Amino acid sequence: MFKYKVYGGNKLYGKLEVDTAKNALLPILAGSIMCDQKVIIKKITYYEDVNKMIDILNHLGVTVKKTEYGIEIDSSSICKNEIPSMLSSTLRASIFFLGPLISKFKKATIYYPGGCNIGCRPINIHLDSLKTLGATIYDKHGYVCVDGTKMKSGFVHLPFPSVGATENVIMASLFLKGKTTISGAAKEPEIIDLCNFLNAMGAKIVGAGTDMIEIDGITNLKSVTFTPINDRIIAGTYALIPLITGGEIEIDGVNPNHILPLINIIKNSSCKIHILNDKIVVQSDKRVNGFGMVETLPYPHFPTDLQQPLCSAATTANGTTVIVENLFENRFKHVPNLVKMGANIRIKDRVCVVEGVKKLLGADLQAEDLRGGASLLLASLGAEGYSIISNADIICRGYFDLDKKLKSIGANVEIIE
Ligand code: UD1
Repeated sequence: MFKYKVYGGNKLYGKLEVDTAKNALLPILAGSIMCDQKVIIKKITYYEDVNKMIDILNHLGVTVKKTEYGIEIDSSSICKNEIPSMLSSTLRASIFFLGPLISKFKKATIYYPGGCNIGCRPINIHLDSLKTLGATIYDKHGYVCVDGTKMKSGFVHLPFPSVGATENVIMASLFLKGKTTISGAAKEPEIIDLCNFLNAMGAKIVGAGTDMIEIDGITNLKSVTFTPINDRIIAGTYALIPLITGGEIEIDGVNPNHILPLINIIKNSSCKIHILNDKIVVQSDKRVNGFGMVETLPYPHFPTDLQQPLCSAATTANGTTVIVENLFENRFKHVPNLVKMGANIRIKDRVCVVEGVKKLLGADLQAEDLRGGASLLLASLGAEGYSIISNADIICRGYFDLDKKLKSIGANVEIIE
């Protein structure tokens, strides 16, 4: 367990390079077990969640080799189809192994997944979809046990475009004879990336990025070298920094199309933003305008994962921001911390109303979840005095060396034990 100590108040200037997308890497790592040959993932970022996925791969009997250019995964030695509580309950993405394990072994047993406490996060859509394709599922002492021996290709409709369920159904149907169609699929860029990865190994998937995905069953996957996309949530987090601290940040390695709703908010806030092919520059020298009404919704709308960082930026904006969190019922845990710093925020159910104040003051803060922790770090950068952020490890689940990156643009951040 470590803490961040942040002295706020510096204007920040410089370049930040965006890392590989965590939410692309996690399903890709799980999906790699379906290939008997070598899988090479280039440009991997070792977020804590990625390390936990590698622990699961090791547990399953997969050989994972870290190299200077990425990671090599050899699943020819895989020998287990069960993920115990100790490994599964540490992250939500452990559920991404369900589809691949069913494809590989026809049977899978996984302890119910854990992850950030941002809501009850059920897996009913994953399981109901697999049942639609003929899987038999039962619970045993906290484990979900799936028997896919009678699964057949077919038509699955998702009642909500769940990212994880879309990915699991794609991976569970990869080796089913015939065509499987998913309607109501999630459209996130990370789903397109997973399908690009699987198609590069020989899968036949069309429609990724739309709400209708078709998978033509194949018999095996071949070796691949693949470079995943960059992380749009990290890019968005960086883009919000100048709104809080003032200054100018160049964000390199971002696909602007992946964060259009945020770019629109920044444009309307009176900041200057320049958009190039794979970089954006955000510059601000005065207090920005409040953001009005912002609602989190599945892609391509404003992402729930940027809601908390945006909330921090709203605390010192000039005017009101109303945030509606539609995805996760428990994703306002950063708010009491921001209020401690002097923010004027009220919460009612899934709505949070932020009346911008002129400045925040440093305080002792507690990171409760990954993006909430990042939002406290952002708020501390703009606050007067210093803040201590406890439980900061949780931020490393989805940001790599964030303290070093912030220091490189002039922030005063240090790690204390
Ligand atoms: C993924 C992302 C996460 C992001 C989220 C929403 C990864 C590793 N994580 O999580 O960063 O915040 O998408 O964009 O990619 N739901 C159900 N039943 C289910 C599945 C989901 O009710 O079986 C609900 C959830 O409670 C939530 C909503 O659907 O309200 C969206 O969840 P989902 O898209 O599945 O999120 P994850 O895949 O867990």
